Amino acid sequence: MIKPHGSDKLNPLYVRDKAERERLLKEAESLPSIVVSSAAAANVVMLGSGYFNPLIGFMNRADALAVAGKMITTNGLFWPVPIVNVVKDASAIKVAATKWTPEQSGMISMDIITAATAGARRIALRDPNVEGNPVIAIQTISAIEEFTPDEMELMTEKIFRTKDPQHPGVAAFNSAGRTVISGPIKVLSFSYFESEFPETFRTAYQIREEMERMGWKKVVAFQTRNPMHRAHEELCRMAQEQLKADGILIHMLLGKLKAGDIPADVRDAAIRVMVEKYFPPKTVLISGYGFDMLYAGPREAVLHAIFRQNTGCTHLIVGRDHAGVGSYYGPFDAQTIFHQEVPKGALAIEIFEADHTAWSKKQNRVVMMRDVPDHKPEDFVMLSGTKVRAMLAAGETLPVEFSRPEVAKILMDFYRSERGKNAR
Ligand code: ADX
Repeated sequence: MIKPHGSDKLNPLYVRDKAERERLLKEAESLPSIVVSSAAAANVVMLGSGYFNPLIGFMNRADALAVAGKMITTNGLFWPVPIVNVVKDASAIKVAATKWTPEQSGMISMDIITAATAGARRIALRDPNVEGNPVIAIQTISAIEEFTPDEMELMTEKIFRTKDPQHPGVAAFNSAGRTVISGPIKVLSFSYFESEFPETFRTAYQIREEMERMGWKKVVAFQTRNPMHRAHEELCRMAQEQLKADGILIHMLLGKLKAGDIPADVRDAAIRVMVEKYFPPKTVLISGYGFDMLYAGPREAVLHAIFRQNTGCTHLIVGRDHAGVGSYYGPFDAQTIFHQEVPKGALAIEIFEADHTAWSKKQNRVVMMRDVPDHKPEDFVMLSGTKVRAMLAAGETLPVEFSRPEVAKILMDFYRSERGKNAR
């Protein structure tokens, strides 16, 4: 099976031994603690799951700046997006008493020692997304540092290619604070993902185990934050056929989205019915990961590639406006970045570059536009998740060119429901 990113073996940070986990959870109750941001909690879940292999915890200021700037850590690891625990106020953990002494610090540098000795050495991270803010991880503090406003701006621009506060990812990134708490973590919970999505939430190591069991060698991953429409379905089918892949991993985002996006349980149901009806048995694995959408377009596509490599997938589908929002990115920027900014050999996973898929009125099926050079613009019905959401919000019935009838029913029922009012 394909190697994980940056190491020979996957090293998930979740404490899998139950007794040890319970011991740490008990101990955590006596540690100073902070409620982290939703983004940091999502990072914890991804680190715990092995998706963010080989990271062992939260990046420090220098690594975050290096990663944002050039997609490389100070140790030379290729990585596209800072994985940080940023807070507005770290005073709760800068309490006076600590038994920790510099002699115990091992290889940690002097300025880091100064920062950490100002407060607690180990802290409990609390979950902002679960009632009562239970502990999700224990972090060993390497440093507590501040990003300057200029550094925040620089990182924002590099990661998102815009500083526009209207961009949902930019808004989230800039609302968490500027104090960065770095250091290794031990993950003690997968937040709400395990209990809310017991059939769907899977870690990278669980997916590896499952693919091993199925005997899959060549596997193409499909990232999605949408219910799957005809374009999505056909993209998966085309990729599997062209690559002669043993299977497809449909890997959906289960974390937070921007207002108006369709909730994960509804998407999950729609995807499951589509796979059951329209794909041969045992060719598709459906699962989800616990991360909040960044909407960082190209940079997020690279992150997507890394964490699919960690699940053991050999290919990732990247199509039109992958992980994009509004018109911040060009339709194929998320493909170009792999040619222009990802150094050769940095990733083992390969990208299946998909062209715009659309319904062909001439052929009565979904086609990739580059495959039908004889078509004129008026021969296509253009398909997009945004368009589908707009139609659903307006109470319109989805046509077969857009959506399978079984999928359309689930979505229309949701939009008509009390809960669906928020999506309208
Ligand atoms: S994403 O934010 O998770 O990328 P979405 O779930 O809509 O959004 O897309 C999943 C994948 O399908 C992405 O790789 C995206 O580029 C691709 N995709 C979606 N619609 C189309 C389309 N009409 N043509 C080509 N690729 C598409």
